[in-house]
Amino acid sequence: MSIQAIVFDAYGTLFDVYSIGSLAEKLFPKRGAALAELWRDKQIEYTRLRTMCSTYKPFWEVTQDALVFTCKKLKLDLTLDAQNMLMGQYAKLDAFPENLGVLQRLQSMGLKLAILSNGNPEMLDAVVKAAGMQGLFNHLLSVDAVKKFKTAPEAYQLGPDVLGLSAKNILFVSSNCWDACAAAWFGYTTFWVNRADAPLEELGIQPDAIGADMTALLRFIEPDAGTE
Ligand code: LAC
Repeated sequence: MSIQAIVFDAYGTLFDVYSIGSLAEKLFPKRGAALAELWRDKQIEYTRLRTMCSTYKPFWEVTQDALVFTCKKLKLDLTLDAQNMLMGQYAKLDAFPENLGVLQRLQSMGLKLAILSNGNPEMLDAVVKAAGMQGLFNHLLSVDAVKKFKTAPEAYQLGPDVLGLSAKNILFVSSNCWDACAAAWFGYTTFWVNRADAPLEELGIQPDAIGADMTALLRFIEPDAGTE
């Protein structure tokens, strides 16, 4: 395998967007899970609409807009305090438990590691820092540089451009199947972290490999890894 670098999606892949659910549950009893789910769906929907209509604005603001809509839709009274608490929590989402160790191991193998995310640079800096992942990534790439969200090809192009490698030699890792499929369309070698045991998207393309979590990624990169 000629993989020389690994590029990770951030939200959902490294950081758990549904970890917000327990705070949401405290603020809105019995509605936390519904809020977390619709919030995520709306956030991604707005990124797509804004990219299609060339009306980019930073992911932080899109995320806030999606939260406001979600609460209106679910008929939840979102006070300014609750909004600040939920957004504050979003800035420091939990990382999935295995991720830090897996990233350290991949770095020790000499692979270049990067994040390529819809998140704006300030968001990415904050969430990486909160997870204690500083120093693990060669680059934190934000689509803010091209003012288009994934799945725009210009967004995926940031990886090859900054790493100086062809997309085929870069492994793109995402837990969002749509993101892994679009990255495969773009030309990356792709790995789908299928944490939720979800069905493949019906897009006529498949990721090159699929695993249930990031330790499966380690096994894909180096079949003997993790057995020492
Ligand atoms: C990201 C979103 C798609 O980090 O999860 O780009």
